[in-house]
Amino acid sequence: MADREGPLNPAPNEDDVPESTLRPRQLDEYFGQERIKESLRIAIEAARGRGDSLDHLLFHGPPGLGKTTLAMIVASEMGVSIRITSGPAIERAGDLASLLTSLQAGDVLFIDEIHRLPMAVKEVLYPAMEDFSVDIILGKGPKARDVRLKLNRFTLVGATTRYARISQPLRDRFGTAFRLEFYDEEALSQIARRSAAVLGCSIDEGGVKQIARRSRGTARIANRLLRRVRDYAEVKADGTATSAVADAALAQLDIDPLGLDQMDRELMTAMAQRFDGGPVGLETLAAAISEESDTIMDVYEPYLLKLGFLTRTPRGRVLTPAGYAHLGLDPEMRVAQAALFGLDGGLDGPEVE
Ligand SMILES: Nc1ncnc2c1ncn2[C@@H]1O[C@H](COP(=O)(O)OP(=O)(O)O)[C@@H](O)[C@H]1O
Ligand SMILES: [Mg+2]
Repeated sequence: MADREGPLNPAPNEDDVPESTLRPRQLDEYFGQERIKESLRIAIEAARGRGDSLDHLLFHGPPGLGKTTLAMIVASEMGVSIRITSGPAIERAGDLASLLTSLQAGDVLFIDEIHRLPMAVKEVLYPAMEDFSVDIILGKGPKARDVRLKLNRFTLVGATTRYARISQPLRDRFGTAFRLEFYDEEALSQIARRSAAVLGCSIDEGGVKQIARRSRGTARIANRLLRRVRDYAEVKADGTATSAVADAALAQLDIDPLGLDQMDRELMTAMAQRFDGGPVGLETLAAAISEESDTIMDVYEPYLLKLGFLTRTPRGRVLTPAGYAHLGLDPEMRVAQAALFGLDGGLDGPEVE
């Protein structure tokens, strides 16, 4: 999805082992998302009490907020197995049919990036979710016949970064859809403290706070920054991640006091200097900074929207006065700035005096 490496876009496979080590296994170790956890606790207890399978669940929200982790926790709290796959991995209807027929009663089937399921596959999924059955075609040509197979009752857990791309018929078949929220500083502190304990990393409260404040509200980033701060503490200090050590480590990674990285700033700077603050279309912006539009939409934009640095309008993205201020630019001066930087954005605009 992303072609640049950075705190938001780790290199493939880097830190894979620690990431799974850091995954909480029970709801009690999963911090924040209180409303979701409460609903899940009730649903799990009720289903277990009836000896029934859990209703299908959909988790949506930006990457790194804990969707996959929650799916695994749900299965473990239900005491069932989980099968993990993803929308793009299921290419043909037959692939899904064979997956479904292999599920044991109560099992969780986790489909990540469920918005990317091909249409033909979705058509198999709908009756499976609704009636726990699949229609398969046996034989070929004139002798081919439809056979309806009964499935064990299972729980589908879907995850997506793009709720808007989930079609209505699919939405309707989920018992509940949960939107994961960005974490606050308190929850990120708990996550960092727990991960530090798991990794055996020495960190004080000042170090925890630095990481929590600069993780873009994202659990995965908190864990990632913790590893980088740990490295720095071991090499450049006495091994303890204090506030000063964390600050130096994060500054070296070009992560600013709000947790924004070079790419966030590049995106906002391009909006200010090349598009006069917008509105600018997503594709145009993506081309200007050589990034994929999907990555901008899934990875960068959600947190910038949350901070109020960007807004979306029907005509495109707009950089807000707060966004200008964070870059140290004055929105009133935007035309002059553009001229100053020698960019064409403001030179022929009507506002030039
Ligand atoms: N609520 C949480 N509490 C503790 N750790 C979390 C939490 N949510 C996510 N994590 C950590 O962040 C990492 C990324 O979470 P993941 O479930 O893979 O996110 P997503 O599937 O939404 O991209 C996990 O490895 C896990 O260690
Ligand atoms: Mg995931």
